[in-house]
Amino acid sequence: MTNPTRPTGGRPNREWWRDAVVYQVYVRSFADSNGDGKGDLQGIIQHLDQLQELGIDAVWLCPCFPSPQMDHGYDVADYFDIEPTYGDLAAFDRLVAAARERGIKVMLDVVPNHCSSEHAWFKAAVAAPKGSPERRRFYFRDGKGQHGELPPNNWTAVFGGPAWTRITEPDGAPGQWYLHIFTPWQPDFNWDSDDVRDHFDRMLRFWFDRGVDGFRVDAVGVVGKAAGLPDQPVMNAALKATQKAGGNPYVQFQPKAHDYWRRWRRVIDQYEAEHPGRQLVTVSEAYTPGRPDLLLKFVEPDQFHQSFCFDLMLVPWIAPLVRAAVADVYEVLSGAGAALTWTLNNHDTQRAVTRYGRANATSIESWTKNNLVYVDAPVDEAIGLRRAEAMIAFTAALPGSLYLYQGEELGLPEVLDLPADRREDPLFARTNGKEIGRDGCRIPLPWNGDASTAFGFSSVPPSEGPWLPQPADWGRYAESAQAADPASTLTLYRELMQQRRALDVEAPLEWLPASDDRLVAFRRGDIVVVLNVAADSVVLPAEVLPAEVLPADGLPADAARFHSVVFSSVRGHTEPASVPGNACVWLHAPHR
Ligand code: BGC
Repeated sequence: MTNPTRPTGGRPNREWWRDAVVYQVYVRSFADSNGDGKGDLQGIIQHLDQLQELGIDAVWLCPCFPSPQMDHGYDVADYFDIEPTYGDLAAFDRLVAAARERGIKVMLDVVPNHCSSEHAWFKAAVAAPKGSPERRRFYFRDGKGQHGELPPNNWTAVFGGPAWTRITEPDGAPGQWYLHIFTPWQPDFNWDSDDVRDHFDRMLRFWFDRGVDGFRVDAVGVVGKAAGLPDQPVMNAALKATQKAGGNPYVQFQPKAHDYWRRWRRVIDQYEAEHPGRQLVTVSEAYTPGRPDLLLKFVEPDQFHQSFCFDLMLVPWIAPLVRAAVADVYEVLSGAGAALTWTLNNHDTQRAVTRYGRANATSIESWTKNNLVYVDAPVDEAIGLRRAEAMIAFTAALPGSLYLYQGEELGLPEVLDLPADRREDPLFARTNGKEIGRDGCRIPLPWNGDASTAFGFSSVPPSEGPWLPQPADWGRYAESAQAADPASTLTLYRELMQQRRALDVEAPLEWLPASDDRLVAFRRGDIVVVLNVAADSVVLPAEVLPAEVLPADGLPADAARFHSVVFSSVRGHTEPASVPGNACVWLHAPHR
């Protein structure tokens, strides 16, 4: 399938991350080397060869710092060490070295908005008096009401309930309240505090010194709060409509936060200058659906190197919306010279197979923007998988970098039927089950068909089973079987990552006219990419594939010189004049 005439990608002076494929490892669910039912760093080391074969450039490890795991690592108790369940600093150093040997870079996940309520600073703040420097690292406020019994303002937490919790003062009296935008176990840092800003400067350098190549930066959209912490406006429909990005205007997208990110960038640029040869990257997590202007603010040249373009992940299976989700962001970001960063899955979102397999996937009316909310539309996983394979083929051809989430290369669906007593995501408990939460995309990976070792997730049979139960038939997605199967999803991903390397990274995205509402088509260099969201095969219109080489009575003998199928998400499809239903093809179609 490879076409030797096409140019090879990559440019000597181009930063590696601009076109990188980064693989997100949810450490707890990736591979367990010691049989405790939870993934660990040694488990990752054991599977690096498979990741190398997948054709990735970097791994991003979800938070692996010491943590009570109330939000599975997004509640950090110590930013300078490794969670003991996952290993220690020596194991981390071994992982970085083993990854480097295979040409894989390592990125960590930094959580700047909040820490764990078990962090030494927070414990010190609770033990210290009102108004103390210890308390100023967080947001401690007196309550309202006659005895301070009411929260300081009306803010609500992202994961349900009020955003404030009252402490008991050291003398036993009911005391001040502290702010937590997520859960009570995640107190928000006050970024107006020098201590906080210094702490994160030190953290960045600490991990860079250990060989880390970059950071995914968690929840940047809520870092820094409006002065005075005013009550948020009560959201009526009209107000919601004017606030496309949603949420509390005194919490979300505070302009002053950009100063913090500028400061980080200075730290990073300086580190690079001090360490010639190191090219570091930060990718920020900010959900800005429909607001590329907001997204752009995070990737100004003096801030983050990248920021996830989540719009594509959030759209239904509707061609004009898929196109718009890419086009709007592309226009604004690439117009400003900023990097593009695509992803279809992560540890917070229902898996693509399930999203696209839902009966409502093609309906704008019933599509929920928030993939975390349970919808009971039935799921056809076969259709969902076919669409997910098409969508990754489409996305992999876009200019920019690509972030994969572990298990998508196996075609894993969301596990929807976990029993309530096994659900661990605080989102489930904090919303009283109204939102089923994110456990279903965090089920431990199936590496082989051996049910006694949790399908190879554990190196030895885990004494109490894996931390989240796997479906009984999870073995049918096993990595080992897929690796040997030319028709598997894993093989498709491997081939796709290889094809992607041959793309001309500097070729811009040129949209091809979309007169047919079932298709999204674009050109990059000599490659034309067409996604067909309809169930049936579509003959390519002349504007996508010029007719002169496609006479009605069949292809001329030399047509392949102009058009051939370079990659198809549907195996065995080699006919360049059409695209199968729910599929994506890459055509070799040089400009003439
Ligand atoms: C992470 C979540 C986490 C939250 C709080 C996010 O955006 O991706 O997994 O629960 O931040 O840290």
